[in-house]
Amino acid sequence: MTLEEIITTRRSVRSYTDKPVSKEAITKLLDMARWAPYASECRRFVAVAEADGKDLLAKAARRDFIATAPVIIVVGADTEVFAEKGSVWHRWDAYKWRGLFYIQDTAAAIQNLMLTAVEIGLGTCWIGSFNEGDVAKAVGFPAGVRPVAMIPVGHPAKPQKKAERAPLEEIVSWEKYTD
Ligand SMILES: Cc1cc2nc3c(=O)[nH]c(=O)nc-3n(C[C@H](O)[C@H](O)[C@H](O)COP(=O)(O)O)c2cc1C
Repeated sequence: MTLEEIITTRRSVRSYTDKPVSKEAITKLLDMARWAPYASECRRFVAVAEADGKDLLAKAARRDFIATAPVIIVVGADTEVFAEKGSVWHRWDAYKWRGLFYIQDTAAAIQNLMLTAVEIGLGTCWIGSFNEGDVAKAVGFPAGVRPVAMIPVGHPAKPQKKAERAPLEEIVSWEKYTD
């Protein structure tokens, strides 16, 4: 598949077959995730394959389907990394390095992970709506490591339809923003 095919055919997959996903495949996704650009190496990943752990995560998101995926990858950000003394970001304004950079760092990694999944025939769904405290507790994140997203990973149960997107002319301006 070309990169364009991977990008334009990826869809959120919310139903999975029972076929297991190998540890090698999950490791491949995580390996590709870490190659994404970063402001700081704050990204943390926990791969959850045991039923009890997946059930806790599904409850935290109030979405039963995520427990049906063979593996759920919880993506967290170690927000303390940005506060380390001597860090280049320490000199910058606090809002940016604490509030915006770790969101971008994790988002870039998640996109790499999801596109790699398409390449190797796996389906994923970005889950951003959940009770943070419950997810942190379920995977054992310490204070300062903030759960950002959960990504269920499995073999898609059915073919996905092509996605729709806003037309370029609606979302792009040249030189200056026009509404
Ligand atoms: C930041 C973010 C949070 C999301 N949270 C959820 C979620 O909590 N539950 C869910 O089912 N999908 C979630 N999604 C997936 C979107 O609904 C989906 O990407 C969007 O509808 C476009 O569809 P597509 O991924 O099939 O192209 C999230 C996506 C993003 C980027």
